[in-house]
Amino acid sequence: MCGIMGCVGKPDAREIILNGLARQEYRGYDSAGIALRCPDGVRNIKIVGRVSELAKLIEERAAECDGAASGIGHTRWATHGGVTVTNAHPHESSDGMITLVHNGIIENAREIRADLEAKGITFVTETDTESPCQLLANIYDGDALAAMSALCNSLTGAFALVIMFRDRPGEIWCARKGSPLVVATADGASYCASDPTALLEYTHDLFFMEEGEIALLSVDGCRFFSFDGERAGKEPIRLNWDSVMADKGQFEHFMRKEIEEQPDVLRLTIDSYTAVTSVDMEKSLKLPDGLMKRIRRVQLVACGTSHYATLAAKDIIESLDDSLDIRVEVASEYRYRNIPGGGDTLAVFVSQSGETADTLAAARLARAKGSHCVAITNVRGSTIDREVEHTLLSLAGPEIGVAATKTFTAQIALLALLALHLTKERGVLSARDEARLIGGMRLLPAQMQSLLEREPEIKALAEKYSGSKGYFFIGRRECVPLTMEGALKLKEIAYLPSEAYAAGEMKHGPIAMLDEKLAVVALVPEGDLREKTLSNVEECRARNAPIILLVTEGDAEAREFASDVVFIPRTERELFSFVGVIPLQLFAYHTAKTLGRDIDMPRNLAKSVTVE
Ligand code: AGP
Repeated sequence: MCGIMGCVGKPDAREIILNGLARQEYRGYDSAGIALRCPDGVRNIKIVGRVSELAKLIEERAAECDGAASGIGHTRWATHGGVTVTNAHPHESSDGMITLVHNGIIENAREIRADLEAKGITFVTETDTESPCQLLANIYDGDALAAMSALCNSLTGAFALVIMFRDRPGEIWCARKGSPLVVATADGASYCASDPTALLEYTHDLFFMEEGEIALLSVDGCRFFSFDGERAGKEPIRLNWDSVMADKGQFEHFMRKEIEEQPDVLRLTIDSYTAVTSVDMEKSLKLPDGLMKRIRRVQLVACGTSHYATLAAKDIIESLDDSLDIRVEVASEYRYRNIPGGGDTLAVFVSQSGETADTLAAARLARAKGSHCVAITNVRGSTIDREVEHTLLSLAGPEIGVAATKTFTAQIALLALLALHLTKERGVLSARDEARLIGGMRLLPAQMQSLLEREPEIKALAEKYSGSKGYFFIGRRECVPLTMEGALKLKEIAYLPSEAYAAGEMKHGPIAMLDEKLAVVALVPEGDLREKTLSNVEECRARNAPIILLVTEGDAEAREFASDVVFIPRTERELFSFVGVIPLQLFAYHTAKTLGRDIDMPRNLAKSVTVE
């Protein structure tokens, strides 16, 4: 949940580290710090606040930092200890030997602390991170690898650690267990970061650290060892992302830019996984021959927005094949329940980052039960990509805004194509349905574009309703996952109470909340459930709730039911999510903007949730 950046071997290490922290600020942003190895010792500068404020402070103290060719930096998302300068990273051992940054949670921090305090070592922070820092100083006797090895083997919990030893200039040591860390070498310098996008300016050839791995970075390159100190060989993975993909460009916020990119992302996904009118996934997904025919159970497991993408996928799969037992599970629940698995189970784990702790734990459980596992992730080289046998890469490019947008549509696209592949292999997909859905998907980018061009209309609506005391999002069947996603977007970036309900459920309780200050956003595309959903809308209107209706273009009659109407292009029923989500994303974005929220870095959140 924190961002780490380190660099050794560059005279402008200070700028490189600040730049890397700024790129990863979405991972955590309550405080920030940087430790630079200057000719007269390590200079450790920390603040409560954003990287831009840290940069200002460092600028003011530039003279003190001259000549630093290496250093480590950190942006924090507090877990243990309040948001204070003392608790911010980097941390230093009492004897000044060790300077360390950490991402993750050290579970045995208290025990380590008690042991060391009993030996007379004074702790100065409330963090779990100070424990490995002081412990390493206590163990170290001149052999850095042995000390790293002893440290890593005595810690429980999750950690990515990046460390400078006072007496080892020109070296940075890293260790990984449970929290991501990527390292690289280019042009006589070595780097490390939590997120690959921070390194793309320097190289596209990246070493993703494995569980239980130690790395030594120096001007001579990167060397890798196991936690037992054994030397390990390792090949870099080439990441074909462009560093400008991780820039805001002309947009005020990453979120807005990423909403805009959705038609292109969809086009690329469709082109990559289909032929003209048929699905073409065999090259990318090499499952055992005949497996799809033997599958009886499909499990779709994820968290947050990725979970809503799996709910949308469930609707698509079951509309094509009613012989499968399809389960959609939140990963944090899946991992603690006795859910069936085995050779007749296809378990699909969806994670934008590929680092979400709960999703990884759920995937490990399913693998242990012998299920056939597939990961869908946006990050090549991420933990889930490396741990799960089969990966389908979503082709959304880096997503920086904390609120997931383009990766949501990319995930549903990939899951829809996986549904076609699965049902085709099982012999239940008709050629007509295949051509109908692929044809329908090909129309989506232009349809999404047309909605993006109607942004002023949605902006006006967002402004009009931004004084509401809360929102309900309602819909039926294929719309239900979208109601959840619409409500989540408002919660996370506008901090407004928003609930999602299957429209038919309103009268079983929630309707009691309605009055003229609670807006209802109802998703009512044309089709067999239009009339029933409109009846539910009527029930809300009768309680004086203002109604915003999302309906299919041409549904003029809908105006009678609503205070405001947004018209959505006509799609195949199963594909409504792709168009329906655009106004919901824009609505949340403009509501948050009207309320002056920090859209790309909403309070209390972090992009990648690497703790339980
Ligand atoms: C979505 O806007 C959120 N930021 C969050 O719910 C996110 O989708 C969730 O944490 C899962 O992340 P993942 O896809 O990287 O696993």
